[in-house]
Amino acid sequence: MSEVMRFGLIGAGAIGKIRADALTKSNSCELVAVSDLDGARARSAAPEAIYYADANELVAAKDVDAIIISTPPPLHEPLAVAAASAGKHVLVEKPMAATPDACERMILAARKAGTLLTVGYNHRYFDALKLVRDVVASGDIGTLSHVRAYTGHSGLAEFKAPWMYDKEVMGGGALMDNGTHVIDLVRYMIGDPTEVFGFATNKVWKLGVEDEGIALLRTAEGTTASIEASWHEWRGYRFHIEAYGDRGLARAYYAPMMATVVKLDKPGGSKSVQRHFYPKAILREKVKGWQSTVIQTFVEELADFVAAANGKPHSGRLAVAADGLRAVQIAQATYASEATRDCVKLPALP
Ligand SMILES: NC(=O)c1ccc[n+]([C@@H]2O[C@H](COP(=O)([O-])OP(=O)(O)OC[C@H]3O[C@@H](n4cnc5c(N)ncnc54)[C@H](O)[C@@H]3O)[C@@H](O)[C@H]2O)c1
Repeated sequence: MSEVMRFGLIGAGAIGKIRADALTKSNSCELVAVSDLDGARARSAAPEAIYYADANELVAAKDVDAIIISTPPPLHEPLAVAAASAGKHVLVEKPMAATPDACERMILAARKAGTLLTVGYNHRYFDALKLVRDVVASGDIGTLSHVRAYTGHSGLAEFKAPWMYDKEVMGGGALMDNGTHVIDLVRYMIGDPTEVFGFATNKVWKLGVEDEGIALLRTAEGTTASIEASWHEWRGYRFHIEAYGDRGLARAYYAPMMATVVKLDKPGGSKSVQRHFYPKAILREKVKGWQSTVIQTFVEELADFVAAANGKPHSGRLAVAADGLRAVQIAQATYASEATRDCVKLPALP
């Protein structure tokens, strides 16, 4: 494989266009092929790349080392499986697929082929999130007790296409959509949960999927988390995550990007408070929009992806296929809990 990884992009819509821009900005990547049902959209997103009307032809192309799949979720499994079988590394957008079974088939295909499969959990690369994760991992706020996370946007007012709230396509509502990012972030902080309890309601939009999802998680060590995903956050897209240890707390907030770290010398003891602001990011977003933050996270994620595919060290923030599967399992376990009013035990990872 050459020094620069040659990428094919399938799906050049809202997110695919930002993926194309991130690939163009990345020193270790070259965008050589693009596919979208809309040829004009594909060519406008990736004017230098070869256009394939049929995504399967892109998958088979000899000069493509890795593929980004940024289509609606039902295509994630067939394209990821075909790409792995063709020996390509894959980064698939979230949610990994609509069902855990589909995710598992994707994992098995990549494992059989010996290729890399990662999931686009780029929120791990938001500056405030990186800070909070590093504080938690350093032990500076002591032993983690609980993590509280929230994500919301304005639902139907936000969606550009009906598939985005179609149960068959997405596998669910708020928890599978914006919720999947904070489910992943919570796991990124507390480790793997074993139990899930939750609620999923649709009192606001009545769309057949939840516009409000609440998941409670617990790990085998007893660390707990509460997650809320909403489609009636009338102030617009935002999320936050707060990690509580026995000697402090760390909180990341977006948007605007902010973080707070409180450290105690002992439980209930004297405290120091650090507040982190990200004026550059805030200003950049005012001028260039939220896409300017997302593109930066995509560039960092791509650097890790290329390093991981080449067996080289990387930041460790990359979300691998098992992370994608677990996020889908947790959302689906919340739906099962809503239906049965019982706590759901998660299966072992494959
Ligand atoms: N990482 C994030 O923060 C984030 C945010 C929003 C959406 N997403 C995910 O990104 C993916 C794409 O979402 P989007 O908002 O860009 O949707 P979109 O509708 O804007 O783009 C999807 C594109 O896929 C194309 N497409 C559909 N079928 C195709 C096929 N058979 N071959 C080639 N192209 C095909 C469509 O023509 C369209 O251009 C979804 O999985 C979504 O959940 C990720």
